[in-house]
Amino acid sequence: MCINITNRNLTFSTSIDVFLLFTTKIMNTIESLQWRYAVKKFDKEKTLSATQIHTLKEAFNLTPTSYGLQPLKLIVIQNKTIQEELVLHSMNQPQVLEASHLLVICIPKTYETKEIENYFNLVKKVRQTPIEILNPFKEFLTAQIAQKTQEELALWNKNQAYIALGNLLTVCALEKIDACPMEGFNPEKYDEILKLKAQNLTSVLVLPVGFRAKDDYMKDLKKVRKNLEDIIVEIN
Ligand SMILES: Cc1cc2nc3c(=O)[nH]c(=O)nc-3n(C[C@H](O)[C@H](O)[C@H](O)COP(=O)(O)O)c2cc1C
Repeated sequence: MCINITNRNLTFSTSIDVFLLFTTKIMNTIESLQWRYAVKKFDKEKTLSATQIHTLKEAFNLTPTSYGLQPLKLIVIQNKTIQEELVLHSMNQPQVLEASHLLVICIPKTYETKEIENYFNLVKKVRQTPIEILNPFKEFLTAQIAQKTQEELALWNKNQAYIALGNLLTVCALEKIDACPMEGFNPEKYDEILKLKAQNLTSVLVLPVGFRAKDDYMKDLKKVRKNLEDIIVEIN
């Protein structure tokens, strides 16, 4: 049997090639996730390229969010003075300074129904959907937001921030970019230093990104994970 598949300028001419292509792809995904770990020591001398940072920005923007509202902002820091100051408010974790870039995932401090207005204006512009078609859903969402307290909205928005973190971590793994997800920091201090309040933002998660140091003690440790049968429940 002869199958021709053209993928990234490569031509696969036999079913065995196709089989190998798919097996390799599956292996690569798991291998990439095995390769990544929460880096404790970054190589201070290495910097991510503009293309790599752009990939992370796009991945952040492509993160799915509830109703597609994207109640998130990503602060991208490449400033050693600021990074050094932030270490003091990150339980002295050196990754914050030593990483090439420091990403801070933020949510709005207060979330208002004008966000719904902005979202539907964007849908209208991008998809040219008539407003009469969008209005019923827009009214539903506006009512949903209006009946929630700011605490409930902050919690909801925080959940979206964690989806963005997961998405970034996976993309980092696939792109061979090292990272360390971090909750161990003082959001109030971050908000103050990064002047987030003035932008109606508050910090939720931190993600130093860059390259692992050759002498990071965590680098060669085996991954600690449950057995699949202890974490997966199958219903047939
Ligand atoms: C939400 C979240 C917060 C975390 N906060 C920290 C942190 O502040 N500092 C740190 O060194 N690691 C932090 N970690 C890393 C975890 O300890 C690590 O992901 C976990 O032990 C699994 O190890 P692995 O990522 O190396 O596979 C955090 C991870 C997550 C997902």
